[in-house]
Parts: sequence; C-alpha cells; structure tokens
Amino acid sequence: MLAYQSGFGNEHATEAVDGALPIGQNTPQRPPLGLYAEQISGTAFTVPRHDARRVWMYRIRPSAIHRPYKRIPNGLLTGPLEEPSPNRLRWDPLPFPQEPTDFVAGLVTVLANADTANGTGVSVHVYLANADMDRVFWNADGELLIVPQHGRLAIATELGLLDIAPGEIAVIPRAVRFRVALPDGTARGYICENHGPALRLPNLGPIGANGLANPRDFLSPVAWFEDRDTPTELVQKFMGGLWATSLNHSPLDVVAWHGNLAPYKYDLARFMTIGTVSFDHPDPSIFTVLTSPTDTAGVANVDFAIFPPRWMVAEHTFRPPWFHRNIMSECMGLVHGTYDAKATGFIPGGLSLHGMLSAHGPDAPTVERAMSAELAPMKLADTLAFMFETRQVLRPTRHALSIPQLQPDYDSAWDGLPKMFTGNAPKGSNQ
Ligand SMILES: [Fe+2]
Repeated sequence: MLAYQSGFGNEHATEAVDGALPIGQNTPQRPPLGLYAEQISGTAFTVPRHDARRVWMYRIRPSAIHRPYKRIPNGLLTGPLEEPSPNRLRWDPLPFPQEPTDFVAGLVTVLANADTANGTGVSVHVYLANADMDRVFWNADGELLIVPQHGRLAIATELGLLDIAPGEIAVIPRAVRFRVALPDGTARGYICENHGPALRLPNLGPIGANGLANPRDFLSPVAWFEDRDTPTELVQKFMGGLWATSLNHSPLDVVAWHGNLAPYKYDLARFMTIGTVSFDHPDPSIFTVLTSPTDTAGVANVDFAIFPPRWMVAEHTFRPPWFHRNIMSECMGLVHGTYDAKATGFIPGGLSLHGMLSAHGPDAPTVERAMSAELAPMKLADTLAFMFETRQVLRPTRHALSIPQLQPDYDSAWDGLPKMFTGNAPKGSNQ
C-alpha cells in the first residue's frame, strides 16, 4: 500500500529520509544530507499566486548533469497531422503490439489540435504496452492526463510512487520524470496531453462549496528515491520529437520536496455526480472533473468530463444525451461498460471524435429505446465514459486515418431514425 498526501494544488512537504527537507528556507548554503536543491518552475515566476505551480526538490544529483540529448525515432507518437475533417470519426480499440513495447514506445497519437510550441491545445494519444520501462521519460510539451482502460500502471516519478488502475486517473506535470511498470503485464489507455495551462478543479458556481471532484480525493505521492549508479536512458519529448541522453545514475533521486507542482491520482468513483432530479438533461459540463482554462472565461482549453455510474430519474424526459452541435470539439473514450447514447459500436478502449459543430447524438436504437422506455428510476451501473472537450478543432494523425480500427461507416449509427412528424403544412402555406 503506497502512501499519499491528500489535496488538490496544495503545498505539500515530504521527505523520504528524516532531516532531508530544509526548514525555513529553500536553498541553504549546504542542503541537508549532502543533497542539491533544484526548482521546477511550471509557471512563469510572476503569474498570480493562485496559478503558480513550482516544486523545490532536494536530490542526490542535480538534473543539469547530462550530455546532449540526441534525436531518437518517435514511433507513432505525434506524427503528421491530416487536414481537419468535418466528419464524425470513431475507432475500435487499437491492438496490443506483438513485440516488447514499453509505455513510451507504445504511445500512438490519434488526434491533436495544436502545434505544441503554441502553449495551447491538446494532443490525444492511446498507449498500448506489454513491457516495463527500464528508461525514464519526461515531457516538455505538456502535462499528461492518463486514463487507464486495461491493466494497472505502477508509475515511479521523481516525486514519488503512484499506482493507478482502470477507473482511476493520474496527472504527470510537465518536466516531472517518470518510469512506468505494468503489474498486469499489459496495459492500454488514453492520454490527454495538455499543452495549455495546468489542469485544475472547475469553479462550482451555484453548486456551492462541495461536489463534483472534491479536493481531498486527489492524492500526490510522498517522497521516494532510488540511489542507483547504473546507466539510465533518459528520454524527453520536446516540441513533438523524442530526444534521449544517457545518465550514469537514476534521475529518480529526489529525497525530499515541497511545492504544489506534483503528480497526482484520482479515483473516478469518488466523483460526486450531479444530475437532474426533475426533468431534462444538464449540459455535460456538469460532469467536469478537471479543466484547463484559456484567456476567455468559461472557454476551456480542455475539459475532462466523465459519465460514471449514476441514477437516472428524470420524469417525462428523453434521458440519454440529446442531439446537438457543439462549438467545442469532443473526443470520447470508454473505460468499461456501455455509454448511454450508443447501443452499439462504441466499445471499451474505442475512441470517437465529434468535431466542432458536427451533428451527433444518440444512435437510432438508443432513440427508439429511450422514447419508449418506462421512466422508473434506473441505475446506469456498468458504465464509465469520458470526454476531452477542447476549444480548438482536433485533427487526426495520418496514422489514425490509415488503420483498420477506424470505422468505415460511423455515420450509419444514425441510419434508421424514422421521420415521425405528424403536423400539418406550415401555417399560411397553400400546400
Ligand atoms: Fe456531444
């Protein structure tokens, strides 16, 4: 059982060895125990205090000790983007690799909406891995929101150990180094790489001071380190490309740290879901777990929303999500079960894209079922879908458009919706 510290965006302070954390100052002339002090500034020095993210680390060796990074092949990470498509797209789960493939080699980019150099937008990847990493990775291009769909991940980071399983998420901030092992041998899941401002809890408005994701349920690791003088490959993603250097020691050597730039995990079952108790259907923003803002109030760089198990009690209401066209672009995935707007075709591990203003909604069998349902209170028990909803149009990668998992006829999901109009000709017409 790993130890964690509770709270979202808090200043945590933790030491893996007694006396390693300096008291009362950040950079003593000689930090305790022969450690080096090093700061990660995740935001510009002078941003407003409530936006600031930084961490002070007390480590065996400073990160500055390294030889030049050299470019290594990206595999299927990033990749050329195709022209934005106005069409709705949906993929079946991508297959596991046959060759030994670690978490980094198993990253496949499906969608992206920005040049990583802009400091805005997101990239959407899936990961398909069957081997533990024996190298260490870090990302200069954005924080990583990891949504496991199959298999647990044991994530050893500079700032401590995080274990996550399907149904949980982890967020690894930009710059934080980590290594992923697979306790179940294989792992598949989704990643939202957030190039914009760090994810945070949404404002609650009239909901009040509690509800949705509660701050205390976010768990950051306690300090942990390895003192290992063995060759270690260190890989970074920088402006979309992978670069590697070799160290003669493990970079996971932070003995103590304090700050609010830290990885964290969250159990999606802790989400306090709010929905109607009378009629109609709130907008899906009511399901927002985390949000990355833009400069425009209320317009997210990305919202992470979930559709968890919940009671459906609305009276005289079409209970699944209605048809709509959204100025934001919606990328959806499914961790387990069935999503209540799709009877078939959207399966765990799959992915769909409903881009800016593309028309979508429940498929034909769902409409038929929902319109004829007996509206007793009903528990949607086996379901965990999620959405990355982003301001900018998402573009598919060339690879994502070339694979057989791209469903050739997603549009047929809406075939068979009957014309049911029973009205007369328009008033005043001569028909
Ligand atoms: Fe939608």
